Amino acid sequence: MILKAPWEIDLMRKSSRIVAETLGKLTEMINPGLTTMELDRFAEAYILRRGGKPAFKGYRGYPYTLCVSVNEQVVHGFPSTRRLEYGDIISLDLGVVVDGYYGDAAVTVPVGKVSDEARRLIAATQGALSRAISAVRPGNHLSDISHAVQSTIEGQGFSVVRLFVGHGIGRSLHEEPQIPNFGPPAQGPVLKPGLVLAIEPMANAGGSDVMILDDRWTAVTCDRSLSAHFEHTVALTEDGAQVLTSYTEDESAQGTGR
Ligand code: MF3
Ligand code: CO
Repeated sequence: MILKAPWEIDLMRKSSRIVAETLGKLTEMINPGLTTMELDRFAEAYILRRGGKPAFKGYRGYPYTLCVSVNEQVVHGFPSTRRLEYGDIISLDLGVVVDGYYGDAAVTVPVGKVSDEARRLIAATQGALSRAISAVRPGNHLSDISHAVQSTIEGQGFSVVRLFVGHGIGRSLHEEPQIPNFGPPAQGPVLKPGLVLAIEPMANAGGSDVMILDDRWTAVTCDRSLSAHFEHTVALTEDGAQVLTSYTEDESAQGTGR
């Protein structure tokens, strides 16, 4: 686990802010008829204009700026000529690097009015991220984060994806430690100021099993049930947890007791 100095967290605040603002713009663009490639094109141009660089493009050969995962797609969906349809749910995952420091976040957004199940799945996954962020406190253990995610999602009748994990983040997109979205409380390393984590719960409406499509990236639920994904880059500072990728004051103060 690599602990960051305050000046490093300040740089991560820059990349993370670009992530947050880009996701905010993309969320506003979402409408039936829009192609997922249009979202990717906008995101790349906007990030470059803000002085950042897309972090995913070229990472292990990933070809795009954004991951766009629709309905039964879990994560790592390719932008394409697919048009969004009324009732879809769409997960947008985005990383940005500024001066060598990374930020990473994801949101799942409904396209128009969606089914009750879809609405509940999105709320449960977002709630799991929020509970997980509340577990980011000095003295807590890493698995308290995992446990918060699992108990929230399963408590609402959904299942947790096990194939993908959250991660440390900093001068690399993925650093130690891995953060599973399931597990017992009070295990693993103790959380300390300077730790920066990308916490990313993924939940399925049906079973937890996922498979990778022939494009070698897109993960889908095996039973083709809906899937949702939320992610924030969170720094543990001397003043408590700070959500670096949030765009509302409200959200970024979460966990700091403010
Ligand atoms: N947020 C995801 C992750 O941390 C996105 C990675 S996509 C990739 O794994 F293209 F960069 F691999
Ligand atoms: Co991530």
